[in-house]
Amino acid sequence: MNGAEATTTHQVHTADSARLSFLRAGSVDLTVTSPPYPMIKQWDAEFAADPKVAAALAAKDGPAAFEAMHRQIDAVWRQVARVTRPGGFACINVGDATRSIGGSFRLFANHVRVTTAFLRLDFVCLPPIVWRKETNAPNKFMGSGMLPAGAYVTLEHELILVLRKGAPRTFDGAAERRRRRQSAVFWEERNQWFSDLWTFKGVRQGKGADRTGAFPFELAFRLVHMYSARGDVVLDPFLGTGTVCLAAAAGRRNSVGVERAPKRAANARQVLLGGAREASRRTKARLESHRRFADSGARELRYHNDALGMPVMTRQETDLRLDQVVGIEEGEGEALVALHAPLP
Ligand SMILES: C[S@@+](CC[C@H](N)C(=O)[O-])C[C@H]1O[C@@H](n2cnc3c(N)ncnc32)[C@H](O)[C@@H]1O
Repeated sequence: MNGAEATTTHQVHTADSARLSFLRAGSVDLTVTSPPYPMIKQWDAEFAADPKVAAALAAKDGPAAFEAMHRQIDAVWRQVARVTRPGGFACINVGDATRSIGGSFRLFANHVRVTTAFLRLDFVCLPPIVWRKETNAPNKFMGSGMLPAGAYVTLEHELILVLRKGAPRTFDGAAERRRRRQSAVFWEERNQWFSDLWTFKGVRQGKGADRTGAFPFELAFRLVHMYSARGDVVLDPFLGTGTVCLAAAAGRRNSVGVERAPKRAANARQVLLGGAREASRRTKARLESHRRFADSGARELRYHNDALGMPVMTRQETDLRLDQVVGIEEGEGEALVALHAPLP
């Protein structure tokens, strides 16, 4: 099968993530996701299926609407907490919302509310990443313009909350430790990816009801490689266009994506089925970028990675492996199967 040496499975479920009974407790190593953002108008209609949200919005009671919206996604966080293994991670991309409602303009601090929800579920909060999405929009400055004191700073960033379930994960036994070493990232990637400021652009969004709220593949790809190991299970309970499942396949992880809207779930499956080339492109770019770093002579690389045939900076990178995705096919039942072969 195309020289494939390993397979991973990718399940796309059409379901409400407030009920994930098909997932066993402790069966997920990492969640990477982005919920609909409370108090962003784009998502009002979805949240307003709950009469409490609809009533609060109709009464122009911003704080009540904010809280009722978060209670809906709290139900999903409870499921994430249940299915996450001890020491597993949840990386939540969430933006705050600015909005005038009931005659008052204010910030609705979604990142604070989501963090609080996870702390209540006994997750540990780790340093978050600021994803700065600079905009040239003429209306990015808000409020009274040049006059004090009613002007507001721009909102050009979102956060990626990094939360861990309890104590750090352990890798016990020789096979687990090898899997961890094979999942290492390059030294120069560590320096870039583990910085608290990411600056790549957002994804071009559709219009109106077609707006996807998708985040860039790069965001999911990095988080998958930073907080999970090859062979792990990655969950996205708000799957949207399927970005996280594709990033998991690119990193030789298994994945489970859950999407409530049947049309979006069907689309995500198609994205995955046609995504082998994109998944491999990013991994090949990792290798090329490391080659340029090694060739630049900027640093003395004292170790050697025999499988890649390249020098590396640290001993931790000597067992690092890279795989390309040589195909993604229909598997049994709902599952798709990705086929992996080593690079180069
Ligand atoms: C912000 S979008 C996620 C976009 C995704 N990160 C991507 O890159 O395409 C949120 C998605 O969650 C879905 N959704 C909202 N509530 C849900 C729930 N309770 N269960 C499952 N999916 C839900 C919405 O239909 C929407 O597609």
